[in-house]
Amino acid sequence: MQDGQKRDGLEDGLRVLVIGGGGREHALAWRLGQSGSVAEVTLCPGNPALPDLKSVAGDPRSLALDLRPDLVVIGPEAPLCAGLADELRNAGLAVYGPGSAAARLEGSKAFMKEFCKRHQIATAAFEVVESPAAARAAIERFSARGQIPVVKADGLCAGKGVVVAESAEEALTASLEMLDGRFGDAGRRLVLEERLPGAEASVHAICDGERVLMLPAAQDHKRIGEGDRGPNTGGMGTYAPAPLVDGALLERVRDEVVLPVVRGMSAEGSPFIGTLFVGLMVSPAGDAQVLEFNVRFGDPETQVLMSTLDGDLGRLLLSAAEGRLESDAVSVSERHAMCVVMAAHGYPGTPRKGDVIDGLERAAEVEGALVFHAGTTLKDGRVVTSGGRVLGVTATGDSLAEARERAYSALERISFSGMQFRRDIGYRALERGSE
Ligand code: AMP
Ligand code: GLY
Repeated sequence: MQDGQKRDGLEDGLRVLVIGGGGREHALAWRLGQSGSVAEVTLCPGNPALPDLKSVAGDPRSLALDLRPDLVVIGPEAPLCAGLADELRNAGLAVYGPGSAAARLEGSKAFMKEFCKRHQIATAAFEVVESPAAARAAIERFSARGQIPVVKADGLCAGKGVVVAESAEEALTASLEMLDGRFGDAGRRLVLEERLPGAEASVHAICDGERVLMLPAAQDHKRIGEGDRGPNTGGMGTYAPAPLVDGALLERVRDEVVLPVVRGMSAEGSPFIGTLFVGLMVSPAGDAQVLEFNVRFGDPETQVLMSTLDGDLGRLLLSAAEGRLESDAVSVSERHAMCVVMAAHGYPGTPRKGDVIDGLERAAEVEGALVFHAGTTLKDGRVVTSGGRVLGVTATGDSLAEARERAYSALERISFSGMQFRRDIGYRALERGSE
């Protein structure tokens, strides 16, 4: 983009295109829409049920090339790993999101582990295997040390490619199934790694290829059932800030993880521009190791992170996309936020679609509450369910307890047949009494 064009864009207000259509993209588009620098936000494919936001169905790539917005923000990992950011950048657009080479941090767990090793970033001990014989031998080596390895498919598996085995036999069975094509090519190569004890946190950093801005840590509840039991999901609820990661630990994560990643990627010729999401395991002693990297905002972490930020997100993401991070474009408020996911009947298996959702307007009237849409659509003028995670009912407050109170009072106003949600989001932090 030419300098002149850029300045015109800012004078007139930025036109921003957000690619994706889930709760994360709704939250991003909402926050972008509140930015002083932004004149217009379009989502693609978005969701026709989103209140007050413009969604355009169709191919995001063609739309971006056609609209030529001032900024493109890519939400999900799949298009990033497939190289959409590279393509749009090559066409002269300002894009917030890494190119395919940098996206390998999420797209290949073997790449991620080797990268951490090259750059001395703390992560669990591991072996990479590509055959049943190698898997068997590696599991024996773990067993000899009294360990049962966690089994991870190398490639993208929509969050399903990790088995935390309870026995060596289970680890072997999982390995053989993956090598045999259970996840297609994504499982032809595996990472077997040491199981780490502790509690998990999600740390997000906005990166411009060189500089970084740390956002407050969030925590996600991944299991469907209360007390963190039952099958894994994409995330049933989040809160931020997470007291598990205090200011000192967040600084260590910046210095010992995020900056080494950004510098390492740059030194290896694939600068990282976009959101680096560090999945951390915090040990009982308070040390952190990296479980995974994602190369995009978390879902539903974004719903709480966007609710705690003040300032101009449009200016921040444009400056990151252009390699001149303006960290002062936003500030982290004192607010606490909680997001409670309402999921469809059948989730995390096959969700039922078409259930009519009532009470959305009344829920939005609760002070500090916002309802982000994930799996919804319009049918005969009514909002109906259309996916597993349906809504992210989000609220802010002066304390986590207040945010929770508001989120659940908004949620109680919403109903649809077969709805599932957890009543205990944030229970660990609230038990700590740190609100
Ligand atoms: P990942 O996609 O790599 O984050 O793995 C999915 C989930 O598996 C994580 O959120 C953890 O709950 C669990 N997990 C992954 N790796 C480990 C590990 N090394 N030790 C313990 N739990 C793990
Ligand atoms: N909530 C976890 C993720 O977005 O990967």
